[in-house]
Formats: sequence, C-alpha cells, structure tokens
Amino acid sequence: MDHSIADLERRAKRYLPRVLYDYVAGGAEDEIGLRQSVQRYARYQFLPRYGVPVAQPDLRTTLFGRTWSRPFGVAPTGYTGILRPGGESMVRAAAARADIPFILSGVSVASLEAIAAEATVSSWYQVYPARDHAITQDIVRRARDAGYPVLVVTMDMPREAKRERDWRNGFSPSLKYSPKRILDGLLHPRWTVRHLLSGGVPTLGTWQPYLPPGAPAKDVLAFHAAQGFPAVSWEHIRNFRSLWPGQLVIKGLLHPEDVRRAIGLGADGVILSNHGGRQLDRAPTPLECLADVRQAVGPDALVMLDGGIRRGADIAIALALGADYVFCGRALLWGVIANGEAGVDQAIHILTDELSRLMAQTGTATIADFAEHSLHRPKDA
Ligand SMILES: Cc1cc2nc3c(=O)[nH]c(=O)nc-3n(C[C@H](O)[C@H](O)[C@H](O)COP(=O)(O)O)c2cc1C
Repeated sequence: MDHSIADLERRAKRYLPRVLYDYVAGGAEDEIGLRQSVQRYARYQFLPRYGVPVAQPDLRTTLFGRTWSRPFGVAPTGYTGILRPGGESMVRAAAARADIPFILSGVSVASLEAIAAEATVSSWYQVYPARDHAITQDIVRRARDAGYPVLVVTMDMPREAKRERDWRNGFSPSLKYSPKRILDGLLHPRWTVRHLLSGGVPTLGTWQPYLPPGAPAKDVLAFHAAQGFPAVSWEHIRNFRSLWPGQLVIKGLLHPEDVRRAIGLGADGVILSNHGGRQLDRAPTPLECLADVRQAVGPDALVMLDGGIRRGADIAIALALGADYVFCGRALLWGVIANGEAGVDQAIHILTDELSRLMAQTGTATIADFAEHSLHRPKDA
C-alpha cells in the first residue's frame, strides 16, 4: 500500500526507465533549488489549538468566482503522455473527479482539443509561445474555441536550463534508440510494453496541425524543437492579454516587481514558481518570495504558488504564508506514473487526507482560517 507521496515516487521509480525517472525527478545543475523547494517547508510548524473540535474541516476554496473542493490543483507537466500513455487524460479525469483545476501543459501528447472534448469544466490551458507569432495566435484561438476558461503563460524559461541528468542520459522526447536506452527499456518491461503497444514515439497533439496531415511524430517533435520555447517578453504578455478573453494567469514569476507588472498588464493572477527547481538553480523558492510579493501587490491580488509540495502540511504552510491557491507537479505525476488514473486519485487522496487531518489537529475549520499566526517559528530558526 502507498501511504505517502514518497511511496508513490518509489513505485514510479521502479516502473519508469531511468531516463524518464530522471527527467521527472531532476532539476537544474546542482539541484540546490529543487532540494530547497522541498525542504523550506520543514522550517515551519503549527502551534495546535485544542478544545474546539473541528469534526469536518472545510477544504473548499474559491478562485475566479468558482468554488473548488480543495485548495490545490494540478500544475502543467510536459510530455505526461510519454510517462504513461494517455497520461494527460488520466490526470484530467482524476482532477475533475476530485473537483480541482487541471492545467494542461503546452507540450502535451494529447491535443488541447482532445482534452477539452472530455470536459473543460476543470481544465486550464498553459501556453508556450511559438517563434512564429501566427502559430501562437492560432493556439490561443484554438484554446478559446475549445472552451478553456483560463490561459496560463509560463515566463520562467528564457533559455534552456542545464539539466545535467537529462544531458547525461541523452533525454529527448523522441527517445532515440541506443544500446543504453534499449537496456533501460528491458529493465523496465512494464513501461516498455505499454509504450510499444501505444505506438512508440508519441506526438505533440497540439502541434500536429502545423505539419502536413499524417506527418510522423518525429517530424512534429523536430518542428516543435525549432519553433518552441522562445523567451517570453512583456510584449508577449500584452499580446496574450489582447488575444485572450478569459482569465489570464502568469506562471513562473518570483520578483515582486514582475508580479506587479504582470497584474498591471491585465493578468488576473500569478503562480509564483521556480519551475520545480528545473530552470534557474540559484533562484529562491517561491515560498520565500511570497511575503514580499504579497506586500507589493496587496491582499486582493490572486497569488498562487507551486513547488516542493509533498505533504498536506506543505499546502497548509503555503496558504498560511499568504498563497491563495497551491499547485502540485511531481506529487501528482508520481501517482499517474505509478498507477494510472487510480494513482492520481490516490495522490490527491493522500494530500487531501493529510491536509484535513492537519486542520483537525490544529483547530483550523476552513481554508480562510489559515494565516501567519497559525504558524509557529522555533526561536532558534
Ligand atoms: C516533468 C515536469 C514537466 C514540467 N513541464 C512543465 C510545462 O510543460 N509547463 C510548465 O509551465 N511547467 C512545467 N513544469 C513545472 C511545473 O508546472 C511546476 O512548476 C513544478 O513541477 C512544481 O514543482 P513540484 O514538482 O515540486 O510540485 C514541469 C515540471 C515537471 C516535474
């Protein structure tokens, strides 16, 4: 039985070829940012209050006028369908069942239309612009026509990061065959059989329409490699704002002035993030930046956060320090890798159960009751 996110990670690690485990688990350079993102939460404790039992903690949280069942959602993660065929649909379905937002990555195997056709009630779309502005415009139009209510623009990839595990392993989404890769596949037969039965190299569904009909997956990946991930400028944000009629969220900011600027340009909210330690290794953690950001933009701005969430307590700490909402990347990915859709249910259940227990144990009845005074800082910290 898996009782924690760490249990799910262990199971996922056994299932995945090493090249893919490292792609998910790894970070940039020395992985200092990655480690700190996880460890920062351990600095905080809760000083429990007893005598006023909270039988049923209320985890509901409202975002953009819609009430969700829990204060956390699914961060966008690229190539999820490579980790588990159909992965994006599985995560979407589990998120909808749990009534939490699911952000589809701009580099998903399933197309944005395929995911929207399943239901857009709880799905948001994350976009990476293309070098060709006409393609960017078209993707935004397609996301709007498909019915996504929220567009998330990720700004923290001005240049490819130095992810040394990926470089050492020769990771690329096309998973080119090599003797080492074949051995890795043979050592992880359950992943390999699923991968081969699903047709081998997966495509990037949203990018497929920009190639001639029937173009093979490797051509789509090559096209995307040439078009994808230009540095995002404030000019891009102005453009997205004018193209997108729904809510616009900017992801990957840390500096209070950048958050102020994003909101000044019409963003409806931000997700503070260091990309899970995968981009700038020496960036501070979003948790550390939260207080200054809050001070810069005031209590009413929508400030969300992701990075390093592995326990319900981590969610509670982020909320207590002023985050309006929290997103989880790897914690839920380990679920889908380890056990498909049921694994995501399990991961969501683990985090929900831990958070609910913490609320009962600290006498916190609702999410809005989390505040800085809920936290205890050890005198020597
Ligand atoms: C395997 C993987 C792929 C990711 N792909 C994307 C992506 O396509 N777009 C994006 O905005 N962020 C991406 N991220 C970053 C996540 O959205 C999120 O910021 C990060 O995972 C949070 O840290 P956590 O994994 O510790 O929760 C990715 C993260 C991982 C682990």
